[in-house]
Amino acid sequence: REELVVLGIETSCDDTAAAVVSNRRGFYGQWGNTRSDCIFPKHNIQQADLLSRYGGVAPKMAEEAHSLVIDQVVQQALDASNLTGEDLSAVAVTIGPGLSLCLRVGVTKARRVAGRFNLPIIGVHHMEAHALVARLVDSDLQFPFLALLISGGHNLLILARDVGHYVQLGTTIDDAIGEAYDKTARWLGLNISKGGGPALEELAREGDSDSVKFKIPMRQYKDCNFSYAGLKTQVRLAIESRSAFQDRKSRADIAASFQRVAVLHLEEKCERAIQWAKEMEPSINCLVVSGGVASNQYIRSRLSYVVERNRIRLVCPPPKLCTDNGVMVAWTGIEHFLLGRFDQPPPAREPEDYV
Ligand code: KG4
Ligand code: ZN
Repeated sequence: REELVVLGIETSCDDTAAAVVSNRRGFYGQWGNTRSDCIFPKHNIQQADLLSRYGGVAPKMAEEAHSLVIDQVVQQALDASNLTGEDLSAVAVTIGPGLSLCLRVGVTKARRVAGRFNLPIIGVHHMEAHALVARLVDSDLQFPFLALLISGGHNLLILARDVGHYVQLGTTIDDAIGEAYDKTARWLGLNISKGGGPALEELAREGDSDSVKFKIPMRQYKDCNFSYAGLKTQVRLAIESRSAFQDRKSRADIAASFQRVAVLHLEEKCERAIQWAKEMEPSINCLVVSGGVASNQYIRSRLSYVVERNRIRLVCPPPKLCTDNGVMVAWTGIEHFLLGRFDQPPPAREPEDYV
């Protein structure tokens, strides 16, 4: 089989990421990944984050941030592979879901590179990329498989039957789990410069997870859907009512109690989804867990018990491939390219437009 080398570009949210992946050799060394909000002064990080989730000017700020670093990030990815544009087989780029202004930065860059080197383009769905990267890290992972995709904006349970063929078993009816982690971290006043999720996970290690009684969401619904808005409210009220004794221990107790219930909700719905998936596809033997929140060690260990009980396997990509990255986009590009799903090269632009 011929070697395919694909450049993947990801700009859907607040990471500007690119990577070069080969179907023979996997991904190359270090890959470019820059959090676009890190170029803002600290007080703007929160603003950018807040506003980007609720509309307003932040998408514009995020777009500017992506634009400032995109050339450098793509160059870093090529440098890390010791390849040039001439060596590429195609360019893959995230086309959604995400902030449209941000997506456009990646798509414009992808079209420039593809136009210049006469390469086909593959438009990639961000969540499909989170799921399929598991097949890069585990070459034994065959279809069909079940995937739990957990990030800041999505909470999905899907049955992956083949490349491009997915059945949604469950989704969130309001917030995603990453949003609940991020808000809880902010309300607890944690240092969220590396993201709310990791900060909360760390603090939770010091806490007693039984100390605050939160209600597990959606137990009365015998389906595979999620809800985190109610838990978020419970946590906010608990924090407000304890404002008189905001020492580290009581904050850690809230963090641990929140995490326990947030993850119990995942466990219960995964348990049911495994049953559903087995009825639909009796050969199912694997649960993939991916998306930014899947880098959480506590979640990995809790889900490993769930798969054990159900006699299936857990495939969880390493944390750097769970959070947004260019590798997953490039790899998904390869999967589609092999099936002949790609667009013809765009026309080359004027030389002075080359970047
Ligand atoms: O997939 P991702 O990088 O971007 C989106 O597509 O949303 O996911 C980002 C989300 C954020 O909410 C972040 O706080 C969360 O993943 N996250 C974590 C951890 N690392 C990242 N949540 C919990 N524990 C972690 N260790
Ligand atoms: Zn993501």
